[in-house]
Amino acid sequence: MFKTIVILSFLAAASATVIKIDKCENVPEDVCTITESRITPCVNGDECRLKKGKEHAISFDFTPNFSADKLKTAVYYVNAGQDIPFAELRDADGCLYTSCPVSPGVSKQLNYKLRLGKKLPSGNFPIKWRVWNEANPAQECCFLAKLSISRR
Ligand SMILES: *[C@@H]1O[C@H](CO)[C@@H](O)[C@H](O)[C@H]1NC(C)=O
Repeated sequence: MFKTIVILSFLAAASATVIKIDKCENVPEDVCTITESRITPCVNGDECRLKKGKEHAISFDFTPNFSADKLKTAVYYVNAGQDIPFAELRDADGCLYTSCPVSPGVSKQLNYKLRLGKKLPSGNFPIKWRVWNEANPAQECCFLAKLSISRR
């Protein structure tokens, strides 16, 4: 049993795919930089295909140029210039997914396990991921990515 778990977690780590990300226009580079984002499993990093009903591990590395005792985080579906909050991670406690506090220039990793509901629509979705200082929302880290959601 233990061996199986070790092997499975090794396979999971090995199949993490670096995904293509873009900057959010509203966040100046000197406020925060996001260096890399990874999804497991993910076949195509340009537009990861996520499966409904399956669990996906998402992680990203960010370096804030600010200090914060508490962070908030949220994922949005970007539609026609509007950010529609994703119900499962909306105004959430960011410190549950990364270690707090954060300090200027110190790289952090945020890890989140996403299970997509079976009722979500299928298709291609541009998303926005934000992490911000609870005490000062202008101090934020943000990236854009494209996901494809399918049934199988
Ligand atoms: C951090 O922010 C300060 C201004 O608040 C700026 O002068 C500095 O260049 C920034 N550092 C980085 C690494 O972006």
